[in-house]
Amino acid sequence: MSELSRPAFHFTPPSMWLNDPNGLVYLDGEYHLFYQYHPHSTVWGPMHWGHAISRDLIHWEHLPIALYPDEFGMVFSGSAVVDVQNTAGFGKNALVAIFTYNKDYRETQNLAYSTDRGRTWTKYAGNPVIPAPDPLGDCRDPKVFWHEDHWVLLLAAKDKVLFFSSPNLKDWQLTGEFGNGFGSTEGVWETPDLFLLPVNASDSRWVLTVGLGKGSHAGGSGTQYFVGEFNGKTFTSENPKETVLWMDYGADFYAPQSWSNEPHGRRIMLAWMSNWQYALFTPTEPWRGQFSLPRELSLVQTVGGIRLRQQPPAETSSLRGKNFHWQNVDAVPAENLLREIHGSTFEIDVKFQLAETTQVFGFRVRKGSENHTTIGFDARSNEMFIDRTQSGMIDFYEGFAARHTVKMKSPAARMHIFADRSSVEVFVNDGIVCLSDLIYPSPESLDLEIFTEGGTVHLMSLDVYQLENHKAVL
Ligand code: FRU
Repeated sequence: MSELSRPAFHFTPPSMWLNDPNGLVYLDGEYHLFYQYHPHSTVWGPMHWGHAISRDLIHWEHLPIALYPDEFGMVFSGSAVVDVQNTAGFGKNALVAIFTYNKDYRETQNLAYSTDRGRTWTKYAGNPVIPAPDPLGDCRDPKVFWHEDHWVLLLAAKDKVLFFSSPNLKDWQLTGEFGNGFGSTEGVWETPDLFLLPVNASDSRWVLTVGLGKGSHAGGSGTQYFVGEFNGKTFTSENPKETVLWMDYGADFYAPQSWSNEPHGRRIMLAWMSNWQYALFTPTEPWRGQFSLPRELSLVQTVGGIRLRQQPPAETSSLRGKNFHWQNVDAVPAENLLREIHGSTFEIDVKFQLAETTQVFGFRVRKGSENHTTIGFDARSNEMFIDRTQSGMIDFYEGFAARHTVKMKSPAARMHIFADRSSVEVFVNDGIVCLSDLIYPSPESLDLEIFTEGGTVHLMSLDVYQLENHKAVL
């Protein structure tokens, strides 16, 4: 309970409620991270934009609240850009935030700007820049980027993404829509994002990510993505309507957003690690809500088509403390190579090959007499899984105690695991498959186990790092 569950290296608010990441933008050496924030309660309420900055995407410094709700409504999710050419007239290199006001189910799109590196914000006097839809309906979470010679804005509208175009961030014109039965429409679409990634030296694709309010792979809210083309006006998917691609197969990866203006040209995304099914009940005080690690995105050509790959960015290694390393050893049943290692925050990176007879191979993290969380590969069903049925506090929501699985296209050969005080993130086979889950183990569950059942596992390499969050140097 309480501060004992507070992650060591996943972002959390200083106190109170957090949901979606917002306004991710880089300017002058600082990665900005805004977020849906309710500073007066540990449950969702009138939304503000909380604010933090980092020089390395890993160590964050909290700043004062950036945007407050007002007579026009709550400040819902949105994005931010650097207006390099001063198209809006707020100033050269002004930071411009584009957000949804929500009031009595009216959702309008609005601007706020800062000319002091995000320290103070002014709401634009000409708001809203996009009026509420008529008839009223879901229409929110603007994501804006510069494309060739104009600004593009994406809005999530029920089971569609709408596309708008503008020369100046103030005057917007609807140019197209995507949806109409593509992917999963079991839940409302939220928090869209769109970006171009290379496939190889001569080819690239646009990727559209969309939060799905319910009905996702692991149940409840989750994130799907589409691969295709964007012609400046609208997006088309290169896959059939029925194709549903998931960014993450765990239960806790929602409302992701990528940074704009990333200085190294990388596409880095992070998500809210929770699920609307139980987000209001997770057992933490006096804060609630955390973000995933930032993830660097790329595309890979697979037999089934082009797919997203997600990997922790290089900066993540700054968290590494003590290292335990094995090379070319075998894990054998009933022997735990990691029995001497204890703690609550680990990175584990293993490259392995299963023997013919091996049935299940994996790790138990945050293990104690009462709880453990299992991360593994079941060779019989060819499934990766996180099993949190015995992970600790589970009874705050009925479906929380679950085993989340994903069928692999090829057997697992690498697991890259980040275990923090109340979450695990797993990047499988260089991040072609990811699983992210919250866990609430008892504080004394500090053992670590590597296990194999049915046969041996050859470990080409196994690294375990204790992770430490050295104070940010800003
Ligand atoms: C997604 C979401 C967004 C909305 C925000 C409100 O989690 O529902 O669609 O803008 O949260 O806090």
